[in-house]
Amino acid sequence: MDELIDEIENIVKVCAKQIINIKQETIKIDNKEGVGNIVTQYDKKIQEELKAELLKLLPEANFIGEENDYGEILETGYTFIVDPIDGTTNFSRNLSLSAISVALLKDAEPYIGVCYNPYIDEMFVAQKGKGAYLNGESINVSNKKLHEGIVLTGNAPYYADMREKSLITLKNFAQIASDFRRFGSAVIELCNIACGRAEVYFELKLQPWDYAAGMLIVEEAGGKVTQMNGEKMTFDKPTSILASNNVEDYFKYLQ
Ligand code: IPD
Ligand code: CA
Ligand code: CA
Repeated sequence: MDELIDEIENIVKVCAKQIINIKQETIKIDNKEGVGNIVTQYDKKIQEELKAELLKLLPEANFIGEENDYGEILETGYTFIVDPIDGTTNFSRNLSLSAISVALLKDAEPYIGVCYNPYIDEMFVAQKGKGAYLNGESINVSNKKLHEGIVLTGNAPYYADMREKSLITLKNFAQIASDFRRFGSAVIELCNIACGRAEVYFELKLQPWDYAAGMLIVEEAGGKVTQMNGEKMTFDKPTSILASNNVEDYFKYLQ
């Protein structure tokens, strides 16, 4: 494994630890574009800290962060794509289910993915071609088919026009699956697929910082990640996602 991973892990862990010590009454919420899309002062603060530390590691890298930091993806070289708190609504409601997500792209393709959930001390990492790990142990997707599996859903919450289609798609899966869950953090949903706790996850619209790290973790754990139309994921615009353990054709449930 590239020693960069250890250094990124350390930075992410230090920044994430503060999340669990934040007093709820200090959280100030602002609205962003879209339905119920919020940001707190802590999203911005943590992103600034991550940016400063990550760019000390790789000063030549470009940086993209959810909170108004939209650099370009370098075709040649490194680009960080960062979500400082994935699961901001959970964070603002004291639901104890959020994570920091950091992806490092090399020549515009995912190279390293790091996700840390400080509430339960879970560190997921992956490097292209080197496997995926949870707290240092190698992880794999499950081998269950949908009829004995769990579906994870995001409902593209910030886009009101997608609610109905999200629910119809969930119904198609949930009629077959043994059960379904919605954790409220895309990277946590993806990491749960990667370590075999669930079989398939879909969402109609996500931003690159929601999935860039998690998709590499799923792929390196043996799973498959594409857009819901089967096309390759992109990192320069929002897209849908279908992530799975790849043991059956999950596209048939999208009709
Ligand atoms: C959101 C979460 C949520 C997903 C949304 C994302 P945020 O990210 O990952 O689970 O359904 O689509 O935007 O706003 O909490 O960073
Ligand atoms: Ca997010
Ligand atoms: Ca976020």
